[in-house]
Amino acid sequence: MKKTFLYTFILIASLSFSLAQAQKNGVSNLQTEMLDNPEGIDVLQPRLSWQINAEGNDVKQTAYQIMVASTLENLNANKADLWDSGKVTSNESVNIIYNGKKLGDRQNAFWKVTVFTNKGEIKSATTAHFSIGILTYADWKSTRWIGYEKLSKDDSVSQYSRLSARYLRKEIDLKKQVKSAKVYIMGMGLYELYINGNKIGDQVLAPVPTDYTKNVKYNVFDVTAQLKEGKNMLGTILGNGRFFAMRQDYKPYKIKSFGMPKMALQLFVEYTDGSNEVIRTDDSWKLTTDGPILSNNEYDGEEYDARKEMKGWNTTNFDDKSWVNARYVQEPGGFFEAQMSPNMKIMGEVKPISIKATAKETYILDMGQNMVGWLQLKVKGKSGDQITMKFAESLQKDGSLYIANLRDAKTTDVYTLKGEGEEIWEPRFIFHGFRFVEISGFLTKPTLDNFVGKVVYDDIKTTGTFESSDATMNQIFKNAWWGISGNYKGMPIDCPQRNERQPWLGDRTTGAYGESFLFDNQTLYAKWLDDIKYSQTQDGGLPDVAPAFWRYYGDNVTWPGTYITVADMLYTQFSDKEVIKKQYPTMKKWMVYMEENYLRNDLMDKDKYGDWCVPPESLELIRSKDPARMTDGEVLSSAFYYQLLGIMKKFATIANEENDIAHYDDLAVRIKKAFNAKYLNTSTNSYANNTVTANVLPLAFGMVPENVKEKVFQNMVHEIEVTKQGHISTGVIGTQFLMRTLTNFGRGDLAFKLASNKTYPSWGYMVENGATTIWELWNGNTADPTMNSQNHVMLLGDLMIWYYENMAGIKSNPEKPGFEQIIMKPDFNAGLTFVNASYESIHGLIKSDWKKGKSNLVWKITIPANTTALVYLPTTNASDVKVNNVKVSKSYQIENNKVVLELPSGTYEINANNIK
Ligand code: BGC
Repeated sequence: MKKTFLYTFILIASLSFSLAQAQKNGVSNLQTEMLDNPEGIDVLQPRLSWQINAEGNDVKQTAYQIMVASTLENLNANKADLWDSGKVTSNESVNIIYNGKKLGDRQNAFWKVTVFTNKGEIKSATTAHFSIGILTYADWKSTRWIGYEKLSKDDSVSQYSRLSARYLRKEIDLKKQVKSAKVYIMGMGLYELYINGNKIGDQVLAPVPTDYTKNVKYNVFDVTAQLKEGKNMLGTILGNGRFFAMRQDYKPYKIKSFGMPKMALQLFVEYTDGSNEVIRTDDSWKLTTDGPILSNNEYDGEEYDARKEMKGWNTTNFDDKSWVNARYVQEPGGFFEAQMSPNMKIMGEVKPISIKATAKETYILDMGQNMVGWLQLKVKGKSGDQITMKFAESLQKDGSLYIANLRDAKTTDVYTLKGEGEEIWEPRFIFHGFRFVEISGFLTKPTLDNFVGKVVYDDIKTTGTFESSDATMNQIFKNAWWGISGNYKGMPIDCPQRNERQPWLGDRTTGAYGESFLFDNQTLYAKWLDDIKYSQTQDGGLPDVAPAFWRYYGDNVTWPGTYITVADMLYTQFSDKEVIKKQYPTMKKWMVYMEENYLRNDLMDKDKYGDWCVPPESLELIRSKDPARMTDGEVLSSAFYYQLLGIMKKFATIANEENDIAHYDDLAVRIKKAFNAKYLNTSTNSYANNTVTANVLPLAFGMVPENVKEKVFQNMVHEIEVTKQGHISTGVIGTQFLMRTLTNFGRGDLAFKLASNKTYPSWGYMVENGATTIWELWNGNTADPTMNSQNHVMLLGDLMIWYYENMAGIKSNPEKPGFEQIIMKPDFNAGLTFVNASYESIHGLIKSDWKKGKSNLVWKITIPANTTALVYLPTTNASDVKVNNVKVSKSYQIENNKVVLELPSGTYEINANNIK
């Protein structure tokens, strides 16, 4: 549990500054935004970050001083009893490593920062806070795991496993006045916690799923306000989540169950007189399995009988005679760790757009959007009446639900009324991926007002907006937003609807990078890298699914390689070096394992999935059988491995493992040589069987010999433009590099064609066919239902990266990661006439809003304080350019026929005439 190494933790201070001196110098409205005030981290040297939002231009940090104190009073009195960094001359404002007194178990820390800028000194007006969790296993030891490990009458462990929720309660008597109190809870698979009848926190489906035999996450809450002197009632409900009997009993290599729900909890209370008390789970807790939640199963849905509600069960005013004492149960097996990534929350609501009666006295509700979460129901009726809601993504021709693509997931919620006037209900321990709901049981026709869709995903901020002159591209962006967010479930899952919902690595290889523009996914992916690390076999193998609920240890390159590419994303986008230092040994072990086992004749001959999901020759197929559409596995895995060697080389420097570099270099040279010798056809200037994927990978990874590079590119362009008539022909692998490679080699217009196409196969074809998310297959409207989800994100490839980096012109300079320097280089000639995009980087808000006339360009940009931007303009003549109405006369460069300006922070309007 205890981490001796530094860990990735970003605390963005919520500080609002305003100082007369700063204002005098043109810096006003300085403030930063709070992302988090984390309770219970198990990192001894957390990293601190802040943002400076300045209205004036050219604001640079010159120094900072951080103060950290153990109490707010101390901090307010400038008594930095934990750490006073002193004035540090530095422009760094993100990921500053805490370097004060050793932090201890459950330590509270309050901090603030003074920023010195070229425009004056800025002090924080408010403070930020974090606290340390429980650092040692010993501190949990006297806390017992409790539960109840028997099936009740209607429970079953079968293909459609059922288990009623566990309700637990414990009355506590606090003898004195409470000064502060924190609760540390591990509730497996899912918990809800109450104190005196009030739910603690707004999280749902908590905690995040893990391989519970490897690590178990605890959540921490400050509950001072909820407790009072005297009698108090603690209550929890435990659901199954991923812990109990998921649907995989028919395949032995899938983990079907971690056991029955169980929990451990500690409540630390500090009294005003300075004394302490700890309340822990033990067998004095009372438990019942006879509550209203009859069954809860992520695939099948939740069943709730309101007649069985136990009014006041989580308050002191309740008779629990019929409850039993909780039983002591075995620990889950994994180490206990603070959860450092967000829980899910209800992030939004969707109002349905139509309801239609069917012939069978059922109704079909249309949410208007393929969404992930659940439906809140409002209903009146008699006790015992039952409402059944079945969820699906689309309808069949006859208007009934299309459920074949859900496989054997039942996706059905059942509510039994208590008959007490208007009843409002929503499930707790399940989610569905759906747009349509078949509703039965209403005696009179329900209206739209009877239902509200609750949108559930990780509590992650949307960081990006994008709008352009192309309506298809705009709709694809919206679909991507819905698809990405909906599949964030404490880990990135492949799809939210069928009996799968697994964290497949290969679906996010490059996608995670694109997603990072739309969502602040840093801590989610840092957690996922831990999941991957924990899933490594002793000899070094990595699975295709992690946590390895499905134990797919097939040893290939493309899926497990995601471990490395996602770490690279965290570095590029968030300047996160610690994550690399932490994961480096495991990454290296896997690289070596693959090399030792599968490198033959300097090529990687291990591949499992091919270029997964290429557009097939016939519209019903899931997988193409046509060899001309498929790319040789050795081509994919060798090229991918080559790319990973390059990333590992960069990581070796960051992780202070420079000795490894020579080997990576040597191997890369050998692979490149063998790859070109075997697969490059110099008479046709193409690779392997000349699929677009076979050509785009070596082009993107820099494997093509200089003298034929252009020719190979032109050959690939011919394949796309002529042979495929301007359409996509790549699957999950090729699509990850297609858009950027086309643009980087000068054919942004062809990339734009692919992005704005409406005919098959294309993202726009999905839109034309009513998709409101992204499909698993290019032919998602016609393919065999056994593998045809309508909400998968893997086919996005590098599309979102291309939207931001190449169309909006918002890219982090790899030399100055985390957007310390922004490369603003939109392809103005791709085909769009305007783009208006924004991205909230860790340094602050970046905006790019450009509009092109026949020969002129108006470009409004915002560059956050303490960063700079390289701004590329489509002209060679600086005198045609005005920045904030002032002609550019000096300090510019010409690069590839473009005027390049290096601009400091601020807001600018750039006008350019005679653009090319
Ligand atoms: C999943 C994919 C995954 C693939 C790999 C599918 O069933 O839904 O997203 O990557 O299997 O085989």
